[in-house]
Amino acid sequence: MKSDKSIYACQSCGFQSPKWLGRCPDCGTWNSLVEEILSPSGTTHSWEEAPVWKSVPQPLNEISSQGEQRYLIGIEELDRVLGGGVVPGSAILVGGDPGIGKSTLILQVLDRLAGAGHRSMVISGEESAQQIKMRGERLGAGQSQVLVVSETSLDAVFKILKDFQPRFVAIDSIQTIYCAEISSAPGSVSQIREVAGRLMVWAKKSDTSLFLIGHVTKEGVIAGPRVLEHMVDTVLYFEGERGHAFRLLRAVKNRFGSTNEIGVFEMKDSGLEEVKDPSRLFLSERPLNVPGSIVVPSLEGSRPILVELQALVSQTNFGVPRRTAMGVDANRVSLLVAVLEKKAGLNLLNQDIFLNVAGGIRIDEPAVDLGIAAALAGSFLERPISAQTVLFGEVGLTGEIRAVSQSLLRVKEAQKLGFTRCLLPKNNLEQILKNPAMELIGIGSLQECLGILF
Ligand code: TYD
Ligand code: MG
Repeated sequence: MKSDKSIYACQSCGFQSPKWLGRCPDCGTWNSLVEEILSPSGTTHSWEEAPVWKSVPQPLNEISSQGEQRYLIGIEELDRVLGGGVVPGSAILVGGDPGIGKSTLILQVLDRLAGAGHRSMVISGEESAQQIKMRGERLGAGQSQVLVVSETSLDAVFKILKDFQPRFVAIDSIQTIYCAEISSAPGSVSQIREVAGRLMVWAKKSDTSLFLIGHVTKEGVIAGPRVLEHMVDTVLYFEGERGHAFRLLRAVKNRFGSTNEIGVFEMKDSGLEEVKDPSRLFLSERPLNVPGSIVVPSLEGSRPILVELQALVSQTNFGVPRRTAMGVDANRVSLLVAVLEKKAGLNLLNQDIFLNVAGGIRIDEPAVDLGIAAALAGSFLERPISAQTVLFGEVGLTGEIRAVSQSLLRVKEAQKLGFTRCLLPKNNLEQILKNPAMELIGIGSLQECLGILF
């Protein structure tokens, strides 16, 4: 006799169906429905108290507006991404590819917090206490006060949290912790949702700040249901290319600060080190006065970063021309190629086109359009652009140059790094005061820009 009911849950979006389906009707993923046994309903959780309200509803105008308390970690790049430190009782999800440095970052964070006198704890379902100690020694945190425990059962985790009352807790990783009341395997949608949900209730109730480490699937999203991202307060993605030492920490959701802030780190022998001046780093290996290389001031969150774009345009030897773009949107590049052909008269039809953003970083804002177009044209025409020139602007389909946001910040960053000439949209020019150290050239169309550059 079958007493437990089973349902089929999509492992990608959390959609549930009473029968198996080949394709999730909700998110369209193929082969993502997995059978999960439903636990008998009505179970009460050991940590849950009787339902009494703890806070009284009150009118908005009577609520005191003093800002919420924050704990500064002391790692500036991270504090900024978080919007000015960690909020007590908040849950922060950290996602990233295996080996990118999630466990390293979290241990460094907890070490700092423990050093400031806060009780901090790592609960690892992946590594033993000895392995964590070894990592700690590499990081120079061998003598740290951080509490370390290797545990995978949620009940045991709650017992530990109750007994030790830490202020900051990291769960490494959320996919390895299982709740015994749910019979599906650890890492499945219902497990992750339940485990994360219960941990977050605990965090809110006890004002504990929670760092949840999450694995990422092949497609680059945090494994498990999307609901996990909706539940937590902050979602950080740790990105970086294999073979590059740079790591970018990106906030994609933040209830306590702006999103799209990034923090830049470099992976060294002794752990992750902050990169305070990323522009200098990204430009450090730039070849000077070479066709196809151009510098654009791109904006990441509130911070301008200068990056080098490289283009290689060369005659196709056979078949269909190749178009490859790394670090920028390939569709955007195709569009700009079409505009260059039609409006600037460059014959790119029989050319292979490769475009790359140096340093392995990814930029997706229209302000780099002009840089992409100029790099392509420069490589095609075999004409270098002066090494002291930067340019930015959005390119429209008729070849017009459109204004972009934060032009002043971009110009200032370029000036800081010694650039002396900047081509920018005409409509942005008025917002910037004349200054003798930087020659500012306002342009209205792509043709005009190419005329000035080449
Ligand atoms: P880790 O934090 O274990 O990655 P994740 O938890 O995201 O899977 O980082 C592992 C990588 O980082 C590994 O390839 C070794 C490298 N590393 C360093 O280069 N220096 C260090 O000090 C440490 C601790 C790791
Ligand atoms: Mg790890």
